[in-house]
Amino acid sequence: MKKPDRRSVLSAAAALSALPVSALAAPKQPVVQPVTTASAPSLAPRERILFDFDWRFALGHAADVNRDFGFGRDQKTYAKQGNGQVAEPSTADFDDHLWQPVDLPHDWAVGLPFARNDYFIPPQNPEDGDPGAGHGYKAIGRRFPENSIGWYRKGFELQPGDADRVLTLEFDGVFRDSLVILNGYVLTRHESGYTPFSVDITNYINPQGPNILLVRVDASLGEGWFYEGAGIYRHVWLVKTDKVHVPQWGLCVRGETSGAISLEATLKNASASPRAVDLVTDIYDREGRAVASVTSTAQLDAYGESQVSQASHLAAPKLWSLDDPHLYTARCEIREAGKTLDVSTVRFGLRDIRFDAKEGFFLNGKWLKLRGANNHEDHAGVGTGVPDALHHWRVKQLKDMGANIWRCAHNMPNEAILEACDELGMLVIDETRLMTATPEGLSQLATLIHRDRNHPSVILWSIGNEETAQQGTERGLKIALDMRRLIKSLDPTRPITAAMNHYQGQGLTPALDVMGFNYHESSIEPFRKLYPDMPIVGTETASAVSTRGEYVRDEVKGYVRAYDLDAPSYALTASAWWSLYDAKPYLAGGLVWTGFDYRGEPTPFNRWPEISSHFGILDTCGFPKDIYYYYKSWWQSAPVLHLLPHWNWTGSEGKTIDVWAYSNLDKVELFLNKRSLGVQSVPKDGHVQWSVPFTPGELVAYGFKGDKVVMKTARRTAGPATRLSITSDRAGLRTDGQDVALIRAELFDAQGTALPTADNLIHFSLSGPARIAGVGNGNPTSLEADKASSRHLFNGLAQAVVRARRGSVGAPVIVTATTDGVPAARLTLTSLPG
Ligand code: GAL
Repeated sequence: MKKPDRRSVLSAAAALSALPVSALAAPKQPVVQPVTTASAPSLAPRERILFDFDWRFALGHAADVNRDFGFGRDQKTYAKQGNGQVAEPSTADFDDHLWQPVDLPHDWAVGLPFARNDYFIPPQNPEDGDPGAGHGYKAIGRRFPENSIGWYRKGFELQPGDADRVLTLEFDGVFRDSLVILNGYVLTRHESGYTPFSVDITNYINPQGPNILLVRVDASLGEGWFYEGAGIYRHVWLVKTDKVHVPQWGLCVRGETSGAISLEATLKNASASPRAVDLVTDIYDREGRAVASVTSTAQLDAYGESQVSQASHLAAPKLWSLDDPHLYTARCEIREAGKTLDVSTVRFGLRDIRFDAKEGFFLNGKWLKLRGANNHEDHAGVGTGVPDALHHWRVKQLKDMGANIWRCAHNMPNEAILEACDELGMLVIDETRLMTATPEGLSQLATLIHRDRNHPSVILWSIGNEETAQQGTERGLKIALDMRRLIKSLDPTRPITAAMNHYQGQGLTPALDVMGFNYHESSIEPFRKLYPDMPIVGTETASAVSTRGEYVRDEVKGYVRAYDLDAPSYALTASAWWSLYDAKPYLAGGLVWTGFDYRGEPTPFNRWPEISSHFGILDTCGFPKDIYYYYKSWWQSAPVLHLLPHWNWTGSEGKTIDVWAYSNLDKVELFLNKRSLGVQSVPKDGHVQWSVPFTPGELVAYGFKGDKVVMKTARRTAGPATRLSITSDRAGLRTDGQDVALIRAELFDAQGTALPTADNLIHFSLSGPARIAGVGNGNPTSLEADKASSRHLFNGLAQAVVRARRGSVGAPVIVTATTDGVPAARLTLTSLPG
């Protein structure tokens, strides 16, 4: 068992008081290591320790006790507590050195082999395609009991004095059905793979150590119809507080654009005596300046909880907006007779939202067309085990394209996504997984609201998606009304939607504030006649399909053309849906299915060996497809001029190629080898195109504003590769064990033209405090391993996800890539403080 890191003796509260106030506005709470010195200094009021490191992982077995570390042997799992009978690894002397060392976030499914797997979704209609396609064909689920149970084990020690505190483990998300066992005690079982949960471990710790934490994760069943991963794929935290403290999500701040702020705090007293305390709340702006302070007193019963309401007013409020997402931080300190018992912080923003049935959507009183995308959470190389920095990067890609809204399909998201949306200025539709008002369903919904209601980015709660069995029924209405009552009791400030694909106007409609349309644009006008006062948002639009870098449909390989031409029968191409939504002011806006390709649901082929979707505007690596530039043309104002396809059609000389340009300029003139092929005016929300007989050389487009050329872009026929290039999305990596750099590999010819169809095998290696967390190339039919250090280019590109290790600042990370026939490529990432 590895001992905790002894280097840092900084406590969270010490950090808070020692730092300049500006540090308080930092996005995350300080992450500290446990103090293990014998004579501990006085304890910090609160520590929130990232518990992502130094885990060991092994696969168990869903059908064989002996291969499942004795779990369930002789039916003794729950017979006695604390005696190690629950499973062999729960004892301190269990030898786990053969288990795999892992850091969180971790998805074990992404490392499994691909296999035809028809367990998850039985085919309702065999013509829909191969059912195993939905989850991305990983060898997991009931047919693969040997791959469907994961055991995580971590030893840790505590500080002197911890025995007198309240200790809580917070799990941000485990897929799924997890059992948490500490020192031989089964502490909790949590089935949902999407909601966070916590467990009070105070009574079960060994203050003198060692403590053995075990988590058994059973991913035999799925919850969705898309790839869902497996394991502890979000953070784990150990939170240490005084007996008097603010519990998880115990702060709720509401700010108005006038500057009025109200704060509700839950104060918990886990001690045996009543307590009289002060709650001192200081509010800091983004620059760390204190802008308000309010103090209240509270009487807390022994083992009781109290709500404290505070109000304040900011003299010069700065609003949270998409262009300037100003975030404030409230720092709440509980004091008793001058002593600080607890310090917790929460970020919030001041903004005002309004949906209108005739005019659409308003943010801070300004009209805004909502335009964005739905997304699942997985990424190439890492599956659902996506580090925060990568979530941030993904949100930024859509922001840069001009998107202003992100729908978390179809489950409570990783909070890192909401933090990125808060920071970058991206609105969010936040959706619960289960549309049901059972205790479990309402508890999942309550968790969603409690955790997410302080995020200014969240503007709509979604209670469900395409609930075909209930959305049009009386029963569906009853359930939706119960869900509505709960939401309004916890957050009366945000409207409620449901993403419906039929029966808009019937069934659960009266439970909604905003109607969500998934496709079915022809039902919009009839719905408006029935519900003229209900605003409408296109919760799902498009579902158009394209494969990055492919321009001819290939039935055998399973590729779709990257022109904006293909969509399933229920769906529309990008230009079809966007011109429709753009033209109707009463439609608040729409969200494309999807921003990024994701594993599973490989429409339109839906068959082995298609492992990922074709819906994305960007592929699974986040490499933009051509359609990215369509949206960028019409969703933001900087000039765009993009030509497709590539110009490497050797062997097709004389054959007519359709050349398209996406642009928001007035006109585009196309030249082939310096000969003009004509000028065309760009129609609003459209594109321009030419039919061009292929001749190798240079295709050049000039974009005009009025009569002035303001942009030029070219596609050249590339020759043989002479250079391998790797580039990184960032120059440095924080040595915090979590930061991520995305390395892009591609080949160039002697003239510097990228090879658009290259498929070379690239080998990545590195030195320094980082590791290759996975690789990808966006090919929806690739059965190459993600957990590897080599990958073929797919249409010219491959990606390595490089994840920082914890280490001392100074040693750079040197990434090297090699392939046959050209010199190696190398880049250096500086290491930055964690
Ligand atoms: C929708 C559904 C999405 C996804 C999409 C594919 O009906 O809500 O989850 O399956 O279709 O087009």
